[in-house]
Amino acid sequence: MSTFTMDTSTSRATPVPVPGKRTTAPSIRARKSNGKTEQPIVMLTAYTMRMAQLLDPHCDMLLVGDSLGQVIYGLPSTIPVTMEMMCAHGGAVVRGSWHALVAVDMPFGSYEGSPEEAFASASRIMKETGCAAVKLEGGEAMAPTIDFLTRRGIPVIGHVGLTPQAVNVLGGYGARGREQNEAEKILRDAKAVDEAGAFCIVVEGVMEKIATDVARSVSAPVIGIGASAECDGQVLVIDDMLGMFERTPRFVKRYDDLAARIGEAARSYAEEVRARSFPTPDQTYQAKS
Ligand code: KIV
Repeated sequence: MSTFTMDTSTSRATPVPVPGKRTTAPSIRARKSNGKTEQPIVMLTAYTMRMAQLLDPHCDMLLVGDSLGQVIYGLPSTIPVTMEMMCAHGGAVVRGSWHALVAVDMPFGSYEGSPEEAFASASRIMKETGCAAVKLEGGEAMAPTIDFLTRRGIPVIGHVGLTPQAVNVLGGYGARGREQNEAEKILRDAKAVDEAGAFCIVVEGVMEKIATDVARSVSAPVIGIGASAECDGQVLVIDDMLGMFERTPRFVKRYDDLAARIGEAARSYAEEVRARSFPTPDQTYQAKS
């Protein structure tokens, strides 16, 4: 258990003692052996330095997801998310964490063209943020790219099933794999990504049977989101699980109702400002007498 000291120049709370070693991609990969993961892997998204500080002690991995397009920037999908956004938020999350492996999503359009394009984008993300891995969406079609990156020193997290960057092809964000042929395709995708060397695989929004089939068929740990408790780990979007939004997908469990609590705090503040009961002498500077 660490305590924190405050760096007054950055308002950054630094844990003392500073944890010696970050979680690594090989150590995550090694959590699954002979098809079993003793202790499920814990992953949450994070987009800011302070949130990373709060989540870091509890998580094995922090994902700077391109969901920041909707969550932080109010964009309609992840399609418009840029490299600049991912690098800025990725760096903030690395600066706010000491223990968790930080992975950064590769934005749409930065990797699909060729393995070489993917290498240029992924290496830029790693240089500019200090993160230890990237995540990219896609199955069989992306396997050669995952192989290319992995062989060149870039740990990759795969992402199959519901792949939000493909929303215009999929036609929406509904769960995938209701039809047999699509279920089989998702399994093939996961196997291809596994064989290409992904050190873990996110499986999103699929029928439970597909998630369990995938988890049993691949050697890399499978991180589920809207998938199955049988996965080797779970990930959620932090703002969803904190209850920041009125509507969340069915698979999200809200662990708090922060939207209501923030609204209540803002309401109290507004009331006190209007009544001139804030600030009080406690919050006011006076010259020393
Ligand atoms: O962008 C994201 O937050 C993600 C998770 C939902 C897995 O890809």
